Amino acid sequence: MTTSRSNEEWVLASYPEGVPTPDNFRKQICPMPVPGPSQVLVKTLCLSVDPYLRLKLYPVPTDSSTDTAATKGQNANSKDEEDTSEFAPFKLNKPLSSMFIGEVVSTGSDVTGLAAGDRVSGLGVWATFAAFEANTLHKVPSDLPPSAYLNVLGLIGLSTYFPLVEIGQPKAGETVYVSSAAGAVGSLVGQLCKLWGCRVIGSTGSDNKAEALKALGFDHVFNYRTQTVAAALEEWAPEGLDLYWDNVGGATLDTVLTKMKRQGRIVACGSISQYHVLGSEAAYGVKNYFKVVASCLKWQGFLASDYVGRSDELFLKLGKLLREKKIRALETVWEGLEKVPEAFIGLFSGNNLGKMLIQVAEPSTPTGPGEDKEADKEEEAREAGLRSRALEPGRLGLEKELVEVREMAGLAHGAQVKAALAALGARLEKDLASVSAPPASSIPAAAAPAKEPVSRGSASPSDLVTGLAPTYTAIDTYGWDQGEYNSPWVSVYVTLPGVGKVKEWVSCSFGPTSFDLKVEGLAGKNYRLLKDNLEKEIVAGESKFKVKEGRVTVLLKKKKGEFGSYDHWMGLTAKTKPGGGTGGAGLGKGDPMGGLMDMMKQMYEEGDDTMRKTIAESMMKVQRGDRSGSGLPEFGKGGLGEDDF
Ligand SMILES: NC(=O)c1ccc[n+]([C@@H]2O[C@H](COP(=O)([O-])OP(=O)(O)OC[C@H]3O[C@@H](n4cnc5c(N)ncnc54)[C@H](OP(=O)(O)O)[C@@H]3O)[C@@H](O)[C@H]2O)c1
Repeated sequence: MTTSRSNEEWVLASYPEGVPTPDNFRKQICPMPVPGPSQVLVKTLCLSVDPYLRLKLYPVPTDSSTDTAATKGQNANSKDEEDTSEFAPFKLNKPLSSMFIGEVVSTGSDVTGLAAGDRVSGLGVWATFAAFEANTLHKVPSDLPPSAYLNVLGLIGLSTYFPLVEIGQPKAGETVYVSSAAGAVGSLVGQLCKLWGCRVIGSTGSDNKAEALKALGFDHVFNYRTQTVAAALEEWAPEGLDLYWDNVGGATLDTVLTKMKRQGRIVACGSISQYHVLGSEAAYGVKNYFKVVASCLKWQGFLASDYVGRSDELFLKLGKLLREKKIRALETVWEGLEKVPEAFIGLFSGNNLGKMLIQVAEPSTPTGPGEDKEADKEEEAREAGLRSRALEPGRLGLEKELVEVREMAGLAHGAQVKAALAALGARLEKDLASVSAPPASSIPAAAAPAKEPVSRGSASPSDLVTGLAPTYTAIDTYGWDQGEYNSPWVSVYVTLPGVGKVKEWVSCSFGPTSFDLKVEGLAGKNYRLLKDNLEKEIVAGESKFKVKEGRVTVLLKKKKGEFGSYDHWMGLTAKTKPGGGTGGAGLGKGDPMGGLMDMMKQMYEEGDDTMRKTIAESMMKVQRGDRSGSGLPEFGKGGLGEDDF
């Protein structure tokens, strides 16, 4: 039954041939459904679009003996039976569906357990409002942003954590390759494998996404559009792979079969490279199948639905890792129901970093712990209390997200990515302004305005759980050194008594010309050393940090200069501000040595390799000689020595 109030929905206009196009979908006005006695009317808050939906965009077979695609061999139903399988084809002129988070608007007379205002998850409809049988939906607490239950704590978590642990069984020291590594599943698989001590190689289709993965901790990431899988694996895993997480299938899988170690494992998660050609002549035929036998491989697939009953376990395991900031949930969020097809199609050209989502409407009640007594009880009952606060967007979460977004903006090269990050930054600033007065934390300056969609990493939950304020005490005392001429490393030394005891709360992110060291919860305080204008470029993916009792050492891997050697740095940071110095070396304008250093720097930059070597050694002598009287911290003070590396 319906009323005359208007509603909007997307229906399937035609089946795609190859990659779907906007013409395959049609948006139409439809009446507002009125829930039957056992139903609820739900407002759509957030929709997920997933690659597997392409498998539902093949025509309904007219004869069960002539299945054409994804359903081949799976849907044994005759044409008279309703196909309720995951891959059941969408029907022409009928609404499309995918996982969603919604808000209950009203309930039928027989419904118990759900009430207006409740947030629910389930298989939703690409519509503003829809009616559902109440028993097909699951209530989710409203103290998390809706997207959380569609990403790491939803289908993506289920499709990653359990199959990785139970089929992939990664072990410390093993070499793992993840394809489509910058996607929702791939980015989580890679992070978990890193956490468990593996060496992780990822592939993706753009340099920007490759950089983002390196910032997440991947050891090596290659752009499969510019380097072949065979060449990359030859370079980064010449000894072979222990584990391959397959998101793409096709030629990639075929190559990987030749690169597996004996008794290696392959987790067959998906084969997105084949979704447009399933069942056709164009489908890729694997040529190296015999390698499964010859290398004694274990090769197993799975379906996320195998794990739906284990959501509580997922919340415990992944919620804990989120809370401890050991993993991040990446999202690309589009706004508005009209964007659903565009976001979906974008999955096949790599338009997403992390989970692809569409925010359709804002919740009526704010996300947060609020008065949800039931959720509070649930939280208490759970050891780690993950459901609540894991991604709570309070002042601290917003601030952290803003810092992250600006850091990512600093890394981004593409105009669209920059613009999207800037838009998100502007939105976060606005949200921040609407809550209480900001603490004295230093958030770097904003970038330019822009358009959707936005990519984001989730707010880390830990501070909300502990209730710590997000203020950082700036670390303004540190030393730095770069060893002898042509050394590949610049070392930054920070002395913080007791830091070894909070080792797990030390983090450092690296960009092409930046690093951001954070130490949290050290004797009740948070510390930060942010340098966003390093004098020369570094290799972010190879830079690292070490924590020892009382000391943190940040090791910046220099990028090779034009002559193939490692350039000598004149200062830790570049001269960017009028009257400012060159950073850690302390030889600024007010310094009597400044003019000499500037002259030497110019000669260094213009000279040949021999000239550079001579000048670099002279400059090091000048810097070292000067340091004793400069008032700057001395290297090694407090026991730090060269053998620390
Ligand atoms: N078994 C299950 O239950 C289950 C559950 C969830 C997902 N999956 C599967 O897991 C895979 C990843 O899913 P997801 O949700 O995390 O999607 P996703 O990776 O977030 O998004 C799709 C990504 O695939 C890459 N891609 C698109 N076309 C490609 C092609 N022809 N060759 C190589 N890469 C291509 C694109 O990234 P680039 O820019 O890197 O090309 C795109 O961003 C998919 O195959 C999906 O079907 C399976």
